[in-house]
Amino acid sequence: MNKNSEAKFIGTKVLGTGSYFPKKVLSNADLEKIVETTDEWILTRTGIKERRVSEADEPTSQLAYFAALEALKSANISPQDIDLILVATITPDMQCPSTACLLQNKLGLKGIPAFDLSAACSGFIYAVSMAKAYIESGMYKTVLIVGAEELTKFTDWTDRSTCVLFGDGAGAMVLTASDESQSLLSVYLGADGSFSDLLFVPAGGTKNPATLDTVNQKLHSIKMLGKEVFKAAVPKMVYAAQKALELASKKLEDIKLFIPHQANMRILEAVAKKLNISMESVFVNLHKTGNISSATTITALDEAIKTGKLVKGDLVELVAFGAGFTWGAAVIQV
Ligand SMILES: CC(C)(COP(=O)(O)OP(=O)(O)OC[C@H]1O[C@@H](n2cnc3c(N)ncnc32)[C@H](O)[C@@H]1OP(=O)(O)O)[C@@H](O)C(=O)NCCC(=O)NCCS
Repeated sequence: MNKNSEAKFIGTKVLGTGSYFPKKVLSNADLEKIVETTDEWILTRTGIKERRVSEADEPTSQLAYFAALEALKSANISPQDIDLILVATITPDMQCPSTACLLQNKLGLKGIPAFDLSAACSGFIYAVSMAKAYIESGMYKTVLIVGAEELTKFTDWTDRSTCVLFGDGAGAMVLTASDESQSLLSVYLGADGSFSDLLFVPAGGTKNPATLDTVNQKLHSIKMLGKEVFKAAVPKMVYAAQKALELASKKLEDIKLFIPHQANMRILEAVAKKLNISMESVFVNLHKTGNISSATTITALDEAIKTGKLVKGDLVELVAFGAGFTWGAAVIQV
């Protein structure tokens, strides 16, 4: 365990992926009973039909645990082979300790380093870049990264402009050092904190610590200026996709499947149009998941592999955009 290595490796290989969703399904028809909305509005404006909702006794680390077990199984390694755990989440079990430490304990991996990182919907791609940096510097050989979220527990169920958008789920990936081949070809990241007030959770931190008042005003749930976020998301996702391709010395035509952050079908279509690619090469599963922030790209990648949409050797590009604003893209050979 914790095999800090002196050797520098030339590449990073993806060994396996996994995902997990809570069992409970919340359909648009169910939402019609909670807020003034319609299945038709949600479907035409977002593409979402249903989302998964975690139980009260099913925290984020639990979803992360089941996704991690699946990734370890698909990687065909035992938990003891893991040297580092990174969890990308904006909906941790609690403020402290990190969800990564809680996951480490569930996996029985006492001793190895574990920490969370916060980059909202781009979180998984940020985690991919950190895993690559740790592995290729020779510091850690095999890294477990997880995107896990329970956004429905940070949702204001009286706000129809946000409560119809989000869901819960987790995805995981095991990456390891590779001497011969490199399957993680490139990662590109960006951020602009001047837009932090367009998509945020106002209270619960040091700026607005929790009080009865913040709870009564529902300031612990996600607030979003959807139209503004939409406008920023499209060009940044297009830019990130192009930059990661450039870094990988690949062309759009080389990519078998694009997996953009699953927030809104109209965003996906606009990104595809601007990149001049067909929607046939864009993976979509948001109709059954909703927006699950850092968990979208990895759960979608896992589904694309499991359903045979991606086979060994194919190139896939993950692209994301989220609160911060943050954005990023990664080119991977599966
Ligand atoms: C949130 C989003 C779906 C809203 O779609 P939109 O076309 O921008 O809709 P608007 O917010 O302008 O609202 C249009 C109307 O629908 C209404 N509306 C909003 N939510 C509604 C709902 N769930 N049901 C019915 N009507 C709704 C609004 O009140 C507004 O009514 P008005 O014209 O009478 O004022 C869209 O902006 C979006 O997807 N934004 C990006 C979100 C995103 O990607 N976030 C994550 C990035 S990580």
